Amino acid sequence: MEGLLDHMLRDTLTRVGGVDRCVSEFIRVTDQLLPARVFKRIVPELLNGSRTHAGVPVRAQLLGSDPPCLAENAARLAELGPEGIDLNFGCPAKTVNRHRGGAVLLDEPELVGEIVGAVRRAVPAHVPVSAKMRLGNEDRERMLDCARAIEAAGASELVVHGRTKRDGYKPPAFWDQIAVIREAVGVEVVANGEVWTVEDALRCLRESGCRSLMLGRGMVANPGLALAVRAALGRDVPGQGATPLPWSDVIPLMERFFAQVRRKVATKHQAGRLKQWLHYLRRHYPEAEETYQRVRTINAPDLLAMTLFGQTLDPTLDAARTTGEADDIEDHADHADHADVAPVDAFNACESDLDTDPSADADADAGGAVPTAPGAPAPSRQDSDTLIAA
Ligand SMILES: Cc1cc2nc3c(=O)[nH]c(=O)nc-3n(C[C@H](O)[C@H](O)[C@H](O)COP(=O)(O)O)c2cc1C
Repeated sequence: MEGLLDHMLRDTLTRVGGVDRCVSEFIRVTDQLLPARVFKRIVPELLNGSRTHAGVPVRAQLLGSDPPCLAENAARLAELGPEGIDLNFGCPAKTVNRHRGGAVLLDEPELVGEIVGAVRRAVPAHVPVSAKMRLGNEDRERMLDCARAIEAAGASELVVHGRTKRDGYKPPAFWDQIAVIREAVGVEVVANGEVWTVEDALRCLRESGCRSLMLGRGMVANPGLALAVRAALGRDVPGQGATPLPWSDVIPLMERFFAQVRRKVATKHQAGRLKQWLHYLRRHYPEAEETYQRVRTINAPDLLAMTLFGQTLDPTLDAARTTGEADDIEDHADHADHADVAPVDAFNACESDLDTDPSADADADAGGAVPTAPGAPAPSRQDSDTLIAA
């Protein structure tokens, strides 16, 4: 998730367990062949056999509208050994859509098919090519045309976020519409959207009829969600999957995450990254709310680390900076052009709080908005295949 769930958070969340695969945030392709270092910067897992440190495979996602250029970039990306290549037809961000990328392409099913076909032909057969779509751009009129075009072009999997671009991130996600797509195509369909709890996951699987789920914000809010879903489905979970992840286990995760942030992110955005995650954690953990209130005005990374973890900056991180290990420091200022997520800078500003955070409204509205399907059978152990985090 661009600007939120990047390689550092992927690393952290996959250590908790329960996730079968991750999809990277999108890599935007315009009219150039990107150098390999760009792919490696956004998906550093490529340097580790396309896996997170916990061993979870990571698929790299491309976004663009020019079939030959996407194909050329996909071929270069394929040389770096990704677990697979995913194509983004769901991004609602204005800057992306203005340049004819993401969800607006769902108005042009032929072009969607051309893109998938061009990428499929450009990469070796052993590299899976998948796609992610919303239900449409302004409406759902062409959703089946798009899904069929994606299938006909040779995609091995289709993730469907159950909302149009016009729906934004406003609950509910229409899981029943995912079922309509699933019934119209033979390709594996993965359900996505508004899964925050185990109950949501079970209902989403039931209503969509899908075997697999993609978890987005729900996994950020509750890093134990994938494990809990697996346990509820009776799938093999090493350790204590059925026990909710306690807050005391989340704190060391945050500490590990922040150590990476401090190595990789420009100083002025470091505190914001942690507070951005804390903001999501508030949805699941009452302790996160208290913690967030305690640190919301802190922008100095050292003070934040001291307040939360009782420590100052690890001196080896300073060493990493001076030896150039942190050369590819990321600047997050231009991220988060998403309807429901506040830019990292908002979490750095002293006045940042629930009232001014644009994601807060969406989050507050989400509770209880999930539709149910009375009488539908509960998913069984065999019904669910894969949990994907994106
Ligand atoms: C901040 C943010 C960034 C996102 N970035 C991406 C992205 O890069 N690629 C993608 O396919 N989806 C992206 N998404 C969409 C999510 O993957 C997911 O489809 C959507 O949030 C609905 O699922 P959820 O309710 O489980 O979060 C993003 C969503 C958010 C909120």
